[in-house]
Amino acid sequence: MKYNKLIKEALKYRERAYVPYSKFKVGAAVLMEDENIYGGCNIENASFGATNCAERTAIFKAVAEGNKKLKAIAVVGDLSTYTSPCGICRQVISEFGSKDTDIILVKSEEDYIIKKLEDMLPKAFTKEDLEK
Ligand code: THU
Repeated sequence: MKYNKLIKEALKYRERAYVPYSKFKVGAAVLMEDENIYGGCNIENASFGATNCAERTAIFKAVAEGNKKLKAIAVVGDLSTYTSPCGICRQVISEFGSKDTDIILVKSEEDYIIKKLEDMLPKAFTKEDLEK
């Protein structure tokens, strides 16, 4: 399937999670419009609010490398359930993606579901709202 590589990357980056507090490992991988892939993991902090989610780590890596157009993102947390991006991450996905961006919720290489950003963040606040 077209997202095999992306899913593999998300699983690989999950192992790099820095989670001494929650012990909850999350991995993510983003597919950009130029077909580049960037992976990320959650990175926690003793000051809990300074924690960065896996999704934002991956997206910020892509943007810092000059890739701003997000086509799809795969996310894997607990391997027995489909881990859903938090609200802040959905907003960041919206900034660089579109209504059609695929969000792949992964349990394993064989077990995943695909949602559209529009389903997970309906009526998003976007830069177009600022131009009104
Ligand atoms: N976490 C993510 O990395 N992504 C999400 O979308 C949900 C939450 C992380 C943050 C924290 O390190 C741990 O999972 C528990 O909340």
